[in-house]
Amino acid sequence: MNINHVRGRISATWLIIVAAVALALGLWAGSQWLSRSPVPDLKTAVMYPAALAVPDFQLQRADGKSFAATDLRGQWTIIFFGFTHCPDVCPTTLAAFKQVWAKLAERGKTDKARFLFISVDPERDTPEQLARYVAFFNKDFVAATGTNAELTRLTRALGILYLRVPDQSGGYSIDHSASAMIIDPEGRRAGMFRPPFEPDAVSADILALIDSSR
Ligand code: NI
Repeated sequence: MNINHVRGRISATWLIIVAAVALALGLWAGSQWLSRSPVPDLKTAVMYPAALAVPDFQLQRADGKSFAATDLRGQWTIIFFGFTHCPDVCPTTLAAFKQVWAKLAERGKTDKARFLFISVDPERDTPEQLARYVAFFNKDFVAATGTNAELTRLTRALGILYLRVPDQSGGYSIDHSASAMIIDPEGRRAGMFRPPFEPDAVSADILALIDSSR
């Protein structure tokens, strides 16, 4: 056995030790990282594998303030798109989220989440009409609408569809997606709730999301 052979064996041993230590450190760091950002155990929310940016938009709130993409930051936001003349889907949804918000209020968490109703019927949904409509369900719900161009851009970015459909009386109705989008406190699209909205499960998930982002 010559000296070079021994040196080769020693460096191979060291290499294995260094690799094992690096692997252990990597696993430890990975577990630390995972424990810092736990993925909550959700009952009904459908979350994206990674949160997606929301492009900028400009809407008008029913109270006269403007509402842009940056205003989504700071809280979890549930966005539902609809219109106040909607005969069934919108009233059912808002009634469900009224119950959800009552459950969040019981836990003192209503400052950590916001419900945003966006009308896709800016022609009929005046600020007064919108404000009255959402306040009927919850006075803290935020309502907004915008130009058709802004609404089209935003709904397309969020994967929401809506379509004006003529009715028999010469007026129109609007077919629209029935899912509620979940926006995280960084203002990114994080997932969605799909109907039917079961208030216990939806509120439990919103509470879990709030806890996960503390
Ligand atoms: Ni509707």
